[in-house]
Amino acid sequence: MSLSAIMGVMAEKTLHDRFYNARNDSSLVVIEGFHPLKHAIRFGAELLEVVSPNLDELTALQSEYAPDITSKFKNLVTAIPEDVFKKLAPVRPPTGVMAIARRPVIDLAALLADPAPVPVVLLENPRNLFNVGAAVRAAAAAGAAGVVNTGNLDPWKPAALTSGVGLQFAMPVARLETLPKCDRPLVAVDLGGDTLPDFQIPDRALLAFGTERQGLSQELLDAADHRVSIPMENGVSSLNLATSVAIVLYHWKLSQ
Ligand SMILES: C[S@@+](CC[C@H](N)C(=O)[O-])C[C@H]1O[C@@H](n2cnc3c(N)ncnc32)[C@H](O)[C@@H]1O
Repeated sequence: MSLSAIMGVMAEKTLHDRFYNARNDSSLVVIEGFHPLKHAIRFGAELLEVVSPNLDELTALQSEYAPDITSKFKNLVTAIPEDVFKKLAPVRPPTGVMAIARRPVIDLAALLADPAPVPVVLLENPRNLFNVGAAVRAAAAAGAAGVVNTGNLDPWKPAALTSGVGLQFAMPVARLETLPKCDRPLVAVDLGGDTLPDFQIPDRALLAFGTERQGLSQELLDAADHRVSIPMENGVSSLNLATSVAIVLYHWKLSQ
């Protein structure tokens, strides 16, 4: 093997190691695909490395979908061979780009104490990263103050970043060990209680949504100041978790 071939193999191995290690490093996040990267850039992510096998295709995508980030995008991306690129993720992102970014440090106490009359979303022990990401996307679109979740899912994992299209970078998003203690009015969004059209969401609400299979815990229901349900047609058991988050947040947003 020639010296340049050996150096190529070594460069590929260190690149692969950096992406592999970033997936297991709680101070970093791996971004898979253009749309999460676009939002990461818009919302000021600190990008450590961006790689793509096809700079022309990527530039065309960026010009079409995010012309506002042209100056930040220039010279950001390193071209790498396709066979190296596709080994950096379990599934090759179809938009042909991946990145490593620093995970923002979240001041949870400041988020919960924020006096602005804006809700925070609490997901109690969600089980599906795609739901977590979709809830983050709805929360960012509606202008929620942040999204927190209990349980063991990390809302910054690549699958949640993909379904959240990187909007984790738009507001505080964090996993908590236990249910948060704070002075925000706790609203349990659940199948019982007041119906949403008749309910005014209080200022600074902590809007709690339950786990996909069992719903909210008794502990949370007992602690809640309010309980509200989204009306459904007869025979429908429940809505999807992220859909419920979107409906409740837009009920709040459209009443502002
Ligand atoms: C898939 S549902 C859980 C269904 C669960 N079997 C139950 O009995 O609550 C996940 C979460 O979405 C929210 N949700 C779904 N449909 C809802 C509805 N019609 N009204 C209020 N919340 C709802 C709740 O927060 C619920 O805990």
